[in-house]
Amino acid sequence: MENNSATAFASPNIAFIKYWGNADPELNIPSNGSISMNLGGLSTKTTVEFISQLKEDVLLIDDKPQNGESLHRVKKVLNKVRDYSGTQIYAEVKSQNNFPAGTGIASSASAFAALSLAATCASGLNLMESELSRLARLGSGSACRSIPGGFVEWQAGTDDQSSYAKSIAPSEHWDLVDCIAVVSESHKSIGSKEGHFIAQSSPFQATRIQEAPARIIVCREAILSKDFDLFASIVELDSNMMHAVTMTSKPSIIYWHPTTLTVINEVRKMRRRGIPVCYTIDAGPNVHVLCLEGSKSQVCSHLGSIPGILEIINSYPGGPAYCLEQSETNN
Ligand code: DP6
Repeated sequence: MENNSATAFASPNIAFIKYWGNADPELNIPSNGSISMNLGGLSTKTTVEFISQLKEDVLLIDDKPQNGESLHRVKKVLNKVRDYSGTQIYAEVKSQNNFPAGTGIASSASAFAALSLAATCASGLNLMESELSRLARLGSGSACRSIPGGFVEWQAGTDDQSSYAKSIAPSEHWDLVDCIAVVSESHKSIGSKEGHFIAQSSPFQATRIQEAPARIIVCREAILSKDFDLFASIVELDSNMMHAVTMTSKPSIIYWHPTTLTVINEVRKMRRRGIPVCYTIDAGPNVHVLCLEGSKSQVCSHLGSIPGILEIINSYPGGPAYCLEQSETNN
């Protein structure tokens, strides 16, 4: 029987305009569009091998077998790939991150982007970027933004066909740096899945969604024109709006730790001193401190003096997901 295997790489991404809340939770059709940057230097490597002898799909993360929710999400993507290629064969999926699991950097975006690409390559399918992005979205919404390269916009769409991400500028367009201030290495207490689900219970969510298209326009324009001040104001506003929603959802979620707020205040202090810098925070306590390459050392040394920061990880605009190898062997 024929075994088909392929290995793909994808980077996680940091959202500048956040995805928070679904219009369709089954298909991860978001309530609003979003914009992000791929985190270059950080990546997930995933190998998918379709093996005719397997009785079910197998998932290994860092060589450890996985069950439950993560395997369920992987199967959702693999089932779609099997539909496309017309096969019934189960797969072994092996995934590894080059960034430590304990850094609080969400790996599901890079993991599902790499899985989608590896699984389709291994099946001999040659999907268009938009189709791959839609496939990755089924595993984790934000994963659809880790398929294209550089600065990426996810157009919310209204159904499976119309909801996918595309690049608005390549990675070399702007020398932005993300200095990730790691303040906690523990996993988030309430995952994004539940957060998306309860977002609607916040009185602020409707306004956040209604005004999202206007924030998208400003953010896209700020990136395209490399206007850091405009970028900083819209990115911080959008992050604050998402956290206002999480804090006022039922149940209320506060993702921030005391050091998170300290970093926010220190970023504002640096800005008052004339350094172009801003922050954004995903569904966790770590702070993504964004600046330009020219101010990186100043920003990093300031962050380095803040008690409570465990580690600072620097990342740059990253490229698209890519497939490394494809092999066909007989056994
Ligand atoms: C706050 O449902 O894509 O990062 O839990 O990693 O699958 P996973 O996340 P997902 O939600 C991401 C939410 C966010 C904002 C964003 O990335 O747009």
